[in-house]
Amino acid sequence: MRTDTGRIVHLADYRPTDFVLERVDLTFELDPTETKVEARLIFHRREGVDPAAPLVLDGDDLTMTSLLFDQIEMDPARYTALPESLEIRDLPESTPFEITVVTMINPEANTQLMGLYRSNGIYCTQCEAEGFRRITYFPDRPDVLAVYTINIIADKAANPLLLSNGNFLGGAGFGPDKHFAAWFDPHPKPSYLFALVAGDLGVVEDTFTTMTGREVALKIYVEHGKEPRAAYAMDALKRSMKWDEEVFGREYDLDIFMIVAVSNFNMGAMENKGLNIFNDKYVLADPETATDQDYANIEAIIAHEYFHNWTGNRITCRDWFQLCLKEGLTVYRDHEFSADMRSRPVKRIAEVRHLRSEQFPEDSGPLAHPVRPTKYREINNFYTTTVYEKGSEVTRMIATILGRDGFKKGMDLYFERHDGDASTVEDFVKCFEDATGADLNQFALWYHQAGTPQVTVSSVYDAAASTLSLSLEQMLPATPGQPNKEPMHIPLRFALIGDNGAELDASIVTGGKVTADVLHLTERSQTFVFSGISSRPVVSLNRGFSAPITLHFEQSEADLAHIARHDSDHFARWQAITDSALPVLTKAARAAQAGEPVAVSASLVDILLTVAADEELEPAFRAQALALPSESDIARELGGDNDPDAIHVGREAVLVALAKAGASVFAALYDRHAVTGAFSPDAASAGRRALRNAALTFLSIAEGDPKRAAEAYAAANNMTDLSQALSVLAHRFPEAKETAATLQAFEARFADNPLVLDKWFAIQATIPGAQTLEHVRSLMASPHYAAGNPNRVRSLIGSLAFSNPTGFHRKDGAAYSFFADQILDIDPRNPQLAARLLTALRSWRMLESSRADKARQALVTIERGPNLSTDVRDIVDRILK
Ligand code: ARG
Ligand code: ZN
Repeated sequence: MRTDTGRIVHLADYRPTDFVLERVDLTFELDPTETKVEARLIFHRREGVDPAAPLVLDGDDLTMTSLLFDQIEMDPARYTALPESLEIRDLPESTPFEITVVTMINPEANTQLMGLYRSNGIYCTQCEAEGFRRITYFPDRPDVLAVYTINIIADKAANPLLLSNGNFLGGAGFGPDKHFAAWFDPHPKPSYLFALVAGDLGVVEDTFTTMTGREVALKIYVEHGKEPRAAYAMDALKRSMKWDEEVFGREYDLDIFMIVAVSNFNMGAMENKGLNIFNDKYVLADPETATDQDYANIEAIIAHEYFHNWTGNRITCRDWFQLCLKEGLTVYRDHEFSADMRSRPVKRIAEVRHLRSEQFPEDSGPLAHPVRPTKYREINNFYTTTVYEKGSEVTRMIATILGRDGFKKGMDLYFERHDGDASTVEDFVKCFEDATGADLNQFALWYHQAGTPQVTVSSVYDAAASTLSLSLEQMLPATPGQPNKEPMHIPLRFALIGDNGAELDASIVTGGKVTADVLHLTERSQTFVFSGISSRPVVSLNRGFSAPITLHFEQSEADLAHIARHDSDHFARWQAITDSALPVLTKAARAAQAGEPVAVSASLVDILLTVAADEELEPAFRAQALALPSESDIARELGGDNDPDAIHVGREAVLVALAKAGASVFAALYDRHAVTGAFSPDAASAGRRALRNAALTFLSIAEGDPKRAAEAYAAANNMTDLSQALSVLAHRFPEAKETAATLQAFEARFADNPLVLDKWFAIQATIPGAQTLEHVRSLMASPHYAAGNPNRVRSLIGSLAFSNPTGFHRKDGAAYSFFADQILDIDPRNPQLAARLLTALRSWRMLESSRADKARQALVTIERGPNLSTDVRDIVDRILK
């Protein structure tokens, strides 16, 4: 493990390398504990560089056993080899030279899952961002691109499969029980895209014929016996390849595309050139074991990694500050793909829910940073929801501002101009300016200024003058290192909706720029005056969530109901429903905190039940409407001094009122939307299951009886229904005998499927209330738990910390101390996992003071831990600051 050096990397210090890397030949002699890596690297000194400058290569925990210069052993006086660097001196002034480095590494002992490691008997790699330097000494940075030839030698029986990037060159036997394989990747790439896989796996094969008629072999490798569970991933891959050709004009560029699923993986997946490596959770699915959400995630992540082939691999990042260049853009692309495959408005609602619950807290707390940061202590901690999801929103705003054609022209120019480059955000933005003539100077502040803009709106209708005045004011809160902000260019889609639900013509306007249905807020405050408006309209603003902001717009219940009923933008309808619910829920939380009875507005119940029963609306949309703002949404709305128990009690009271008032509606929905026939994971069927399961929850609340959920469990023929019924039992009736029996039955039935048991862990870790901590402790002793497996840890400890407000924030602080112990236990094994978990405490200052004190104590305990990793040190210091 790298312990912290306190070194900070600054964007302003960027400069190109002194030496140009021409080519890379790697030979791996694989062994579980003693793998030999021979790297032959050809360099030449860059023109104009000081002839005395040494070559300095990155390393991390490396042991070198030999170093040759142009094939001759190097004089030890000419180099200094440390675990974290190799410096070589007295190198030629301009002629190319070859360095051959041999390092010995131990894949079995690599518990941090960076570099080359072994997971369940499979050798695999993860190199982004700085894992390659754990394999060999190298200029391990994304602006060093080279072609790679890879030779892999390994025991034949244990590793029939030897894979790397690019195209297969050939292979043969090697001694009595070994064999070798050679791969060549013709596309120059940075080291973070290198991959190697070896072991014994099953395969699912298919082909894809590209737009120019080339046939590409597609292979998905999974553990033997799991091949049938890779069918959906393969289908998603083919749809992704086709979609990228049709929508972005991007064709695949190798003869083969491979995906490997591994069970120990720190993140979702990785876009290594031609050889994507996935967390098996995002590959494996069948009706018995995967929920609709699992299917949707697989589709999205397969697409995401595939799309990186152009946005990330063909055009990569100059340095890690540019991470959003590939991630924000690729998330935008996968969002658009899913929107095209499924229901666009429902997909948008889910994205916005996710953005608000994950990114908004990050952006308003101690970890806030710009989409394009300017400094970091540990790059792994910048694979954040700000870089990914806000980065995607920024890309979406470019599309909103330029329109579909303008956006496409800019993207085409980007692909044409920067193919083969290691680029910057500035390069990207300039393509849109050059392709359309637009000025994106002010807009680019979205990359540089952190924080969620707050936009306050008021409207005045003047009947005599037939005008509507819309006054908007933007405020960007201070964030770490950025006390003062400039006004941003905020594109707001809008409509003026008349009495009959029709949209009014809003084309005559003064006070600011409006293009089609987009209002451009560019000043700190601005009043737009629309004329020719003959009766008072209802204003629907930030439709489709065109800008990632918080809108403060006091609209009457009647106006919100009008939007909820009539807006042709279904995202805006959902938003209006949410805006009706939030004040009711915050009032309920305050009442509960004061020990007063909770009142529930009849009009909210009315809107919700009307939408629930409206068979004209798609079921998935109705399910989203019925999923009221979460406890953390309410906490955010309350904005401080938060008491998670009061928020829970208040929200529960609203749920009970809705369940009782709507019992007959929910009973009808439950009967009507039973999905019959063979299981299909398509979006429409998934939507019906979601609606029916929402109805099941409300019915169970209204009836106060576990019977219905227990019956639903018994009748379920797919994992969505099964896990939903189990959740209702566990969360609503934790003490019922049905619940204990069902949890046991579930465990027994899926005892050999860790990914399904992750759901079992997560359901139990999210049972509301203080007692869940003890339950989580006892589950850690379960034979199914494995503290070394990131998926297990996230399902059990992550679920408690991130998704169980009353369980995690119990008043006595016991869960915080437990959490601190866990972080200190995980950190030495897997710093990335520990640091990611630790962000669960990022909003501790929003808690009421007694909890906040206890959370701070836990953070201090972590801060004082011995030998903290850079990852955890960086997060804990920033959270406490
Ligand atoms: N590039 C990968 C993806 O988004 C994720 C890599 C994450 N790496 C890390 N060190 N956290 O598809
Ligand atoms: Zn990505």
